[in-house]
Amino acid sequence: MSIKPPDFRLAIFASGTGSNAQKIIDYFRNRTGTSIALIVSNKPGAGVLDIADKEGIPYIIMEKERFFRGDAYLPELKNHQIDAIVLAGFLWKIPKALIKAFPHKIINIHPALLPKYGGKGMYGHFVHEAVLAAKERESGITIHYVDEVYDHGAIIFQAYCTIDSDDTPDSLAKKIQKLEHLHFPRVVEEWVQLQNRR
Ligand code: GRF
Repeated sequence: MSIKPPDFRLAIFASGTGSNAQKIIDYFRNRTGTSIALIVSNKPGAGVLDIADKEGIPYIIMEKERFFRGDAYLPELKNHQIDAIVLAGFLWKIPKALIKAFPHKIINIHPALLPKYGGKGMYGHFVHEAVLAAKERESGITIHYVDEVYDHGAIIFQAYCTIDSDDTPDSLAKKIQKLEHLHFPRVVEEWVQLQNRR
């Protein structure tokens, strides 16, 4: 009889609708070895919490003071035996304590081609407006490690889309979302496999 190794347990942090979280949950639903064990949000009422409810995944709504100047919710992450963290539209900066507790075990998705169009305030439509204002010919997505600087850690994966002359922030957002949904779950899986081999 062989003993099945325990699942690799992911927490997804998200502040908004959670469409990427949903795609990741769907992707891993019928795959063995990885489970989405916890959803973490900073926003009561965020769409991602409805997803957690519907999927029967436990969730935490974090409070700012404790996240930044308290224990960063490390006890909860430990209780849920979280191995690694995926940021999918999470708007708070990750505090040092959390990065230290999860070295190379936190990744983020950004809706542009970093290192351009990243940093504080660069999220959602602000990113697409800046990309269009600069008359870029292409944009895309970046999946990267999280370090102590916003949108800065080593890049794991990028995918590109072209920008047409009639693109608006909304139409560009749609192209970007398509890329995110297509690639993010698979890149998460490859990254998890890498973690398992360490
Ligand atoms: C995505 O565009 C992601 O790149 C960014 O936040 C957005 C989250 O969207 N970091 P959703 O909540 O997954 O729909």
